[in-house]
Amino acid sequence: MVRPVIFSGALLLLLSIPTSLGFKSQDFKTCAQAGFCRRGRALASRAQDNASWKSPYSVDSSSISVSSGEASFTAGVKSSLYPDVKFGLDVRIHDDGVVRVRMDEVDGLRKRYDEAASWALIAEPKLSREISWTVGKKDVRAVYGTKKENEVVVSLEPLRVSLLRNGKEQVVLNGRSLLHMEHYRTKESSRPEGTPEEGLDEDDAQVVVQVKPNAWFEGEVEDGYWEETFGGNTDTKPKGPESLSLDITFPNHGHVYGIPQHATHLDLPTTTGEDPTYSDPYRLWNSDVFEYLASSPVSLYGSIPVMHAHSAESTVAIFNAVASDTWIDVDHPTLKSTNTHWISESGILDVFIMPGPTPDDIFKQYAKLTGTSALPAHWALGHHQCRWNYISTDDVRSVQQRFDEHDMPVDVFWLDIEYAEEHKYFIWDKKMFPDPVDMMHDVEALGRKMVVIIDPHLKRTDNYPVYKEASDLGVLVKSKSGDAEYEGWCWSGSSAWIDFFNPGAWDWWRGLFKNTSQGDKWSWVDSTESTYIWNDMNEPSVFNGPEISMPRDNVHYGGWEHRDVHNINGMLLPNLTSQALVARSDPPKRPFVLTRSFYAGSQRFGAMWTGDNLGTWDHMAVGISMVLANGIAGMTFAGSDVGGFFGNPEPEMLVRWYQVGAFNPFFRAHAHIDTKRREPYLLDEPYRGMLRDILRLRYTMLPIWYTAFHDANIYGIPVLRPHYVVFPKDEAGFSLDDQYFIGDSGLLVKPVVHKDVTETDVYLAEDQVYYNYFSHYAYRGSSKGKHVTVPAALHEIPLLIRGGSIVTTRERPRRSSPLMQRDPFTLRVALDKVGYAKGQLYLDDGETFSHLEGNIVWRQFVAEKTAKKSKTIRITSSDLVSQNPDAAVEGVSLTKYDPLNAFAKSVESVRVEKMVVMGLGGKPKSVRVDGGEELVSEFTPGVAAEGKKEGAASVLIVKDPGVSIAKDWSIVIEV
Ligand SMILES: *[C@@H]1O[C@H](CO)[C@@H](O)[C@H](O)[C@H]1NC(C)=O
Ligand SMILES: *[C@@H]1O[C@H](CO)[C@@H](O)[C@H](O)[C@H]1NC(C)=O
Ligand SMILES: *[C@@H]1O[C@H](CO)[C@@H](O)[C@H](O)[C@H]1NC(C)=O
Repeated sequence: MVRPVIFSGALLLLLSIPTSLGFKSQDFKTCAQAGFCRRGRALASRAQDNASWKSPYSVDSSSISVSSGEASFTAGVKSSLYPDVKFGLDVRIHDDGVVRVRMDEVDGLRKRYDEAASWALIAEPKLSREISWTVGKKDVRAVYGTKKENEVVVSLEPLRVSLLRNGKEQVVLNGRSLLHMEHYRTKESSRPEGTPEEGLDEDDAQVVVQVKPNAWFEGEVEDGYWEETFGGNTDTKPKGPESLSLDITFPNHGHVYGIPQHATHLDLPTTTGEDPTYSDPYRLWNSDVFEYLASSPVSLYGSIPVMHAHSAESTVAIFNAVASDTWIDVDHPTLKSTNTHWISESGILDVFIMPGPTPDDIFKQYAKLTGTSALPAHWALGHHQCRWNYISTDDVRSVQQRFDEHDMPVDVFWLDIEYAEEHKYFIWDKKMFPDPVDMMHDVEALGRKMVVIIDPHLKRTDNYPVYKEASDLGVLVKSKSGDAEYEGWCWSGSSAWIDFFNPGAWDWWRGLFKNTSQGDKWSWVDSTESTYIWNDMNEPSVFNGPEISMPRDNVHYGGWEHRDVHNINGMLLPNLTSQALVARSDPPKRPFVLTRSFYAGSQRFGAMWTGDNLGTWDHMAVGISMVLANGIAGMTFAGSDVGGFFGNPEPEMLVRWYQVGAFNPFFRAHAHIDTKRREPYLLDEPYRGMLRDILRLRYTMLPIWYTAFHDANIYGIPVLRPHYVVFPKDEAGFSLDDQYFIGDSGLLVKPVVHKDVTETDVYLAEDQVYYNYFSHYAYRGSSKGKHVTVPAALHEIPLLIRGGSIVTTRERPRRSSPLMQRDPFTLRVALDKVGYAKGQLYLDDGETFSHLEGNIVWRQFVAEKTAKKSKTIRITSSDLVSQNPDAAVEGVSLTKYDPLNAFAKSVESVRVEKMVVMGLGGKPKSVRVDGGEELVSEFTPGVAAEGKKEGAASVLIVKDPGVSIAKDWSIVIEV
């Protein structure tokens, strides 16, 4: 069959997404500008147009080998397209029910990159010893779960993998037959006679050619197989085509979340419909995107290939352990189902299917794979003040002084790149920073810290010892030939990049952060134990590189090309840096490292922020959904720059932005070098006072944040919890991403992200009372879901406490969080509609690792009626560790734990100074510590929690009950 073919590759290059002010769309590829993405999408559209489309991949049934005693099997896979090419399949079920599906080319011309998972995982997962595979004629199956509810079916011809729950398909791989692993080939062998070469110019565009035998599947032309040019950079593609296309279908889930990082909604919009903003797939290719758009599928600084699929019945998730450039189309064939199509440039197929069935189960399953977020130092949850740049040691001192003069709490001052002489990181510019260690000691006087930027690009000059040593060690990234040091352009001019994939770099990097001299090896003597680190530009950003990054044909340790490892690359620097910070002091202190680039597993190394956002309302709003998306993919210590990196926000916007920041896990103000100074004390009243109140509110709530981070550390549950996580059955909340809960505290916040707002509506998903945190006004939700109107004038934050919660605060204004260590606590008891409430508090020394030896206080507070018909309430404090065997999972070992541990003793005298009880059934007759004297209290009547009506809640304030925060007690409120 002969058919005319028109070459359209050159034309495709002309297509580009619409430019807006700032964002340079011409710097970044669209799918149509990336050969393998074009091929992947073309494959999908051929499949769609062909009613008899069938996957060419099948399992060779004679090759199935089931391991004895473990839930794993391997098998050979063949493709009818290329009968001589062999693939190997490996399917395993872990002891927690997670299914891992791997497929690789066997005995190919080359080895595909297969190490992505090994960087992400904390350990090789344990396989189930209970589950066994049944090999049938048409498939291999396994049934498991406490009620045998789960089933994995691997169909042989064509190859198709599905996970079922109660007989319903949850996740299907290759259900749409888009699986394609392009095998390695040589340029000569790849093109049957008569087929055209790629790269013909337009004059040759009308050639009539022979159709390739596999054209129905692979297309008629070799589109972008062997070389590709973009923006003046040529990718030599020495390995030729090696892309991987995989469809993952969720036939019973209408919402998908995750795959950060994109500036978009939490509930991911369809990319194959009419919306011109979402005409490209979501892309995962870590990129330094200047002035990124506030709504776009374009890739940003980090990539976590984790997707949750959700319905009112269940949640499932997948982790696709691939590190190369990956594009993901999302569409919903019906309201209740989702198709996704993953197109990656290189790597093996390595997909983890997490069966859920609840969001919390998914968090645990994912945490078991890639670890939980590190428990941060307590001070890291305070307010961070940054600017590009504080220009001198005296500038830093005077900024600190002004914060103090204005009674504005702050814990950390940051230095951007200008502290470093010629952007040689570590090396102080002694003209402007003549006395860095003295400056840091001044900052440390109030328990504050400094964070200083260290980027991965090294100025290529022999008078820079860090570059010199890295070059001598041979641990720099190589250019395409594999022998020469790669040279690119970045802040420091001509630069080289440390190859952290090279084990030879690891000890050396850890040694750099010691503040004592290391013989002839350089180390950072101009630093202190309170100097922490910001790793920026680690995508890596290369100003003159393709798509502002490294050429894909650069070579890393082990001979892998940059294209294979790009999305992991950014994770290694913060890993090694956090290890270095732990290693520099004895006893070690918890590290703090902020990273811009990240991958699955990065949560183990520190915090991230959403990069160079703009000072616009849209960016303020999308920052919230981005932080939520990061959180559900594990990277929960996240925030966006308060104020917006670019621009000069007017006072109203700045106030709102601080409100957003104060309710982000990571709370940092930052600004571009061209912006006007905007430290909070610079504003006029009434704005300045509003900012002071917001900062103080954050500090008041630090016990709540720290407890939420502890939960994240133990269970992998994100610090910010979107609605679908808290109310997984409530359809009306599945697309909500502008209000969220903080840990399990019961605090529900909806930061205002629009101009001129005086009130806002908050969605309540349940028939429960919610109290306004500030006014104690009681709202009543409904089991059908209900919107209530909450005051939100500029000085007000819509913040509600869910009935049934007890939250712990510290309400004495201080200048920094370490000064609060011995401050007394306030308990807010928000009774639910039946007069019950519960809460927890986690405390430790906040900076060392002695919590791992059981030096902690972990309390549970419960308020309940003394008898069913009674209105009398008893509030008790009890030790939570002994009630919580799960606590042994991470950190706290129960065998070592002693409720009277050294830390608990050190806070024995720290007391509860106030208790606020909302929703009591009536005026109390007596309030006393069990067996003790009558306490001083004050009651304001209002609507009781049990009342169906909305209105001011009854409030009882108990003054100074004097009970210790670290001990058991109970308080009886007799009504
Ligand atoms: C449709 O798919 C089948 C494989 O199932 C293939 O043989 C046929 O060539 C395809 N048709 C077209 C027009 O591509
Ligand atoms: C290095 O750090 C240690 C521990 O913080 C400190 O005691 C010492 O003074 C520092 N040395 C220098 C040279 O600053
Ligand atoms: C990164 O951290 C993990 C611990 O989470 C460690 O096992 C691994 O070796 C580290 N990677 C590198 C490159 O050092």
